[in-house]
Amino acid sequence: MKSTMDFIEMKKNDEKITMLTAYDYPGALQAEAAGVDMILVGDSLGMTVLGYNSTVEVTLDDMIHHTKAVRRGAPDTYIVVDMPFGTYHVSHEEAVGNAIRLYQESGANAVKIEGAHLQYFVHRLVDAGIPVVGHLGLTPQSVGITGFKMQASSKEEAEELIGTLEVFQSLGVVMTVLEAIPADLAEKAAGAVEMPLIGIGAGVGTDGQVLVYHDVLKYGTGRPPRFVKQYGDFDGIGIKAIKAYVSEVKSKSFPDEHTTYKKKVYEDEDDR
Ligand code: KIV
Ligand code: NA
Repeated sequence: MKSTMDFIEMKKNDEKITMLTAYDYPGALQAEAAGVDMILVGDSLGMTVLGYNSTVEVTLDDMIHHTKAVRRGAPDTYIVVDMPFGTYHVSHEEAVGNAIRLYQESGANAVKIEGAHLQYFVHRLVDAGIPVVGHLGLTPQSVGITGFKMQASSKEEAEELIGTLEVFQSLGVVMTVLEAIPADLAEKAAGAVEMPLIGIGAGVGTDGQVLVYHDVLKYGTGRPPRFVKQYGDFDGIGIKAIKAYVSEVKSKSFPDEHTTYKKKVYEDEDDR
């Protein structure tokens, strides 16, 4: 399994870091077999596998449940898990307690938190020995305020973002996800810190990329955002296969002789 040191080394060597979300055992098996450097058990699972409209409904127990399944499917891959909405804003005590529980019970290697104003909390987690991953730019847990659109589009916001990354780095944050920000800012940010920056909708200048499993595979998602590339068509393949199954049952061509146990337990009337 790669370590946070390896990711820093990859950044130094200009080797791009690949991250993909996974939420269950088969997805994790695929991610590990395909050789992704890191898996993110994102709270996007609220939308991709639970069918909610946003990530806001996702609970700490949901994250633990799914991450355990991902760990079983990807025993040798570095896993980052999201702290979900509402689990790190009420009080520092509660936030630290939730982070410890998530880290301890889920089997993840690091926990990810959204937003810039979490410095005391980050300090407490690092103090407790928990690797912390940041997430800046578009932070979907605040989508009620920001909307799903590009962030940090002014010079002031851009400078604030780089300032936050420098603070994160000084606090010991192991890496940070940058979502939906201008490509020139992301590239500048990557040059400003040694901490790896993983982009989604942030152009090619970050140290790595992350995409959502269901977006990459076109699996149960609607029209994806601009920054997504669909590399497969699971919906097409899946629906076609299910239709073939339904049709063969209706036409009595399934089950056939190959899928039936042939041992006789009732003798024919005539043999008696
Ligand atoms: O939840 C998630 O999938 C994420 C990525 C989009 C970075 O946070
Ligand atoms: Na997330």
